[in-house]
Amino acid sequence: MNTLIGVAAFALSLIATACSAGPPTSGPPTGYPKPAPPAPTGFDNASNGVADDATHQADQSKFEEFEAIDDGLGPLFNAQSCRECHQNPVSGGISQVLELRVGHKGPDGTFQNPEIPINGGSVIIKGRSLVNQRAICPNAAFPTTDIQERVPESENIRAFRVSVNLLGDGFVEAVDDSTLIEISRKQCHKDHGKICGLVLYVPILESPGATRAGRFGWKNQHASLLSFSADAYVNEMGITNALIADEVTELCNTVSQPNNKPEADGLADIDHFARFVRATKAPARDVRQAATAAARKGETLFTTVGCDICHVPTMTTAAAGTVVNGGKFAIPEALGNKTFHPYSDFLLHDVGTGDGIVIAQAEHYGRHMQQIKWKDISPESWRSTANRMRTAPLWGVRTHPMLMHDGASMTFREAILRHRGEGREVTERFERLSQADQQAIVEFLKSL
Ligand code: HEC
Ligand code: HEC
Repeated sequence: MNTLIGVAAFALSLIATACSAGPPTSGPPTGYPKPAPPAPTGFDNASNGVADDATHQADQSKFEEFEAIDDGLGPLFNAQSCRECHQNPVSGGISQVLELRVGHKGPDGTFQNPEIPINGGSVIIKGRSLVNQRAICPNAAFPTTDIQERVPESENIRAFRVSVNLLGDGFVEAVDDSTLIEISRKQCHKDHGKICGLVLYVPILESPGATRAGRFGWKNQHASLLSFSADAYVNEMGITNALIADEVTELCNTVSQPNNKPEADGLADIDHFARFVRATKAPARDVRQAATAAARKGETLFTTVGCDICHVPTMTTAAAGTVVNGGKFAIPEALGNKTFHPYSDFLLHDVGTGDGIVIAQAEHYGRHMQQIKWKDISPESWRSTANRMRTAPLWGVRTHPMLMHDGASMTFREAILRHRGEGREVTERFERLSQADQQAIVEFLKSL
């Protein structure tokens, strides 16, 4: 009986479709938006069209440039160039470099940023969870000043986070907030919200007061590539800039603020970094591996067991000309209305792997961020980031042998089996597959 009603309803819907679509035509149906063309892919250092190739190469040189003390390097830092942590297999890719973050729980059980004494305790670094691995002094000018950060015993929450891929991130930035909100809404309505990705609104540094759905970093701490570049320049390299102008410490500091200023063309280094990343092509698939029978079967099983609920295979960017990042970025032709395959929803989930660390606001948005009123910032969502991580985008994952945020999973199977929390049921479905089918999913991951 039910089947009959189903069949009748299906037949009716066919008639309805036939009527509304009008008589069949030979060309593509008119009145429908054209399918969005694919984003260009490739590990070839070439531009995706956002910049001409010469400009892209010049931007890439800035990304690769080694900075020294005279340029403002440090006083505390992790590396001398962006490329040191973003290179495999070309500039902008991933690397094995891990960063150290620490903190502790306060009396009320919430995460507290660490207090790290330097120079024999004459200064205490506060307001950031990152522990820099390097320091510019002691040096010849400051032989008795020791500002090396070391973790005090009291900071017993300790986490590593591995460097991530930047290739193709211009397409991610060009996705409208509404697309991410809709993915979250659908997840949360299905299966009583067992899987429910969090949209976190984060500050756009270049547009004080404006926020946008976070999508970059392991905690979605940024939505704009320019904001992320400003954050990375200060926190990874110690180079202050127009968007974050405070040094982490004044000890050993000899270059005036901001360390990096715009040049004659009006562009500062952070503008070059952002344009470099925006102009990168998306990671390319391994076509030989993707064509194997096992990888093709694995691609289907990836969806059957529900990996695709979080690792969303396909997304489309907003139309060219759409203005985002608090009015500061108009999506260029080369990034607008493109489909791409990130295998992520760019939402935060608790899959049981969280590192316990809440996004440190002064660290990522500058010490003055507290004086600005940011739209839609929710303290409750913010605190809930302690054990949530962004769904790792799986494009290019074959270039990375150290998996998950801490780089502690060495095989795809180990990474999958670590998914618990929101990912528990999907992992259990994976575990119930035959060995051959489990391996097929791994073969598919090796093609990404
Ligand atoms: C010492 C290593 C290191 C250096 C140097 C470094 N990064 Fe990163 N980068 C990382 C790590 C680790 C992450 C993930 C951070 C997190 O969320 O905890 C990251 C994340 C990013 C992201 C977010 C990408 C995404 O899709 O989530 C961008 C953009 C970025 N870095 C740009 C830069 C730029 C520009 C520079 C140079 C100014 C730079 N990085 C220097 C290690 C580094
Ligand atoms: C509930 C959402 C969710 C589901 C379902 C899910 N994942 Fe994930 N996945 C994540 C998150 C979040 C991370 C990052 C976790 C971390 O780093 O601690 C991740 C990380 C990964 C990684 C590591 C990638 C890297 O770059 O380190 C792989 C591989 C992966 N997932 C594969 C799968 C497969 C295969 C399935 C299905 C069997 C699956 N995931 C199901 C959310 C999910």
